[in-house]
Amino acid sequence: MGTIADSAPPRSKLAILISGTGTNMAALLYASRLPDAGYEVVLVASNRPDAEGLKLAATEGVATFSQPHKGMSRTDHDAVMEAAIVEAGADIIALAGYMRILSDGFVERWEGRMLNIHPSLLPKYRGLDTHQRAIDAGDSHAGVSVHLVSPELDAGEVLGQIPLPIQRTDTAETLATRIRFAEHQLYPRVLNEYVGRFANADWLLQQVQQRALDLPEAEARDSHGAPAWKLAGKSGKFFAHFSDTHHGSPHIGVLVKAGGMDELESLCDDRPDIYFKPAYYGASGWIGIILNRQDVDWDHVSHWLERSWRAVAPKRLAERRAVGPRAAADEF
Ligand code: GRF
Repeated sequence: MGTIADSAPPRSKLAILISGTGTNMAALLYASRLPDAGYEVVLVASNRPDAEGLKLAATEGVATFSQPHKGMSRTDHDAVMEAAIVEAGADIIALAGYMRILSDGFVERWEGRMLNIHPSLLPKYRGLDTHQRAIDAGDSHAGVSVHLVSPELDAGEVLGQIPLPIQRTDTAETLATRIRFAEHQLYPRVLNEYVGRFANADWLLQQVQQRALDLPEAEARDSHGAPAWKLAGKSGKFFAHFSDTHHGSPHIGVLVKAGGMDELESLCDDRPDIYFKPAYYGASGWIGIILNRQDVDWDHVSHWLERSWRAVAPKRLAERRAVGPRAAADEF
């Protein structure tokens, strides 16, 4: 018989890279033991074999790995670290005081799947010495940011921040101590939200909305109490519906017009991991694209939205819109 644990969505597998004390690593690790954690820590790795945090991870039964970078090129060192990360089965990386700049190749391969914590209110004070720089500038607040890692240092999308007031008496050290407390709250929370976004209906709706409204003369309008998108104007027809686990379905999906019942049935049979036949709507040719999964190809979703839009758009509009390379390759 299935238990609640069996039906819980799979947890992301996190590798944490550290160079020092690893207090943020510890915060991430202990938060992963809470019942609602969307991730588990599969590896703690370091470029310093003596990094304090490695001991704590080992004590907690987490696999550890270290490879000193001395004498190795950046790419070679990154390759060894990455091999250990892949070997551990990680699908997401958290940098937590990892004092190495990563090679572009590594960063690109993990784009959207690697986070970092930085002790400033980004975009202010990228790089080092952030506390002193904030004090010297006379800032009223310092703070901490969690961001996605992009090739440019500390410049990726900011996912969450906590500001902290700077006191007149603060030194870089006193500020750093307070900022650490904030860091330990922020990092696990943001990471948990980030790995959970694939199952979060609000986030998924936002992704669809932004793509649907990108189409000419598209507008959002609820239909039967659920978000949907149609062509503007009184007689404008619907081209997409959002479906959040409706009628007992486990799927969060976007419904778009299939080319016909044959296409709908065969796509649902061949790729049940991507498509589903929605209750009621399926009978009139709407196919569901499953969105609550880890590997949604959002270009593919855009392509279907456009295709569905074309099916109801007046000729003057459809002709005006340039056919994208992907659309041109399809016949419909
Ligand atoms: C933190 O201040 C973090 O913001 C920065 O490096 C420090 C790591 O501290 N990136 P710890 O090793 O987690 O204690």
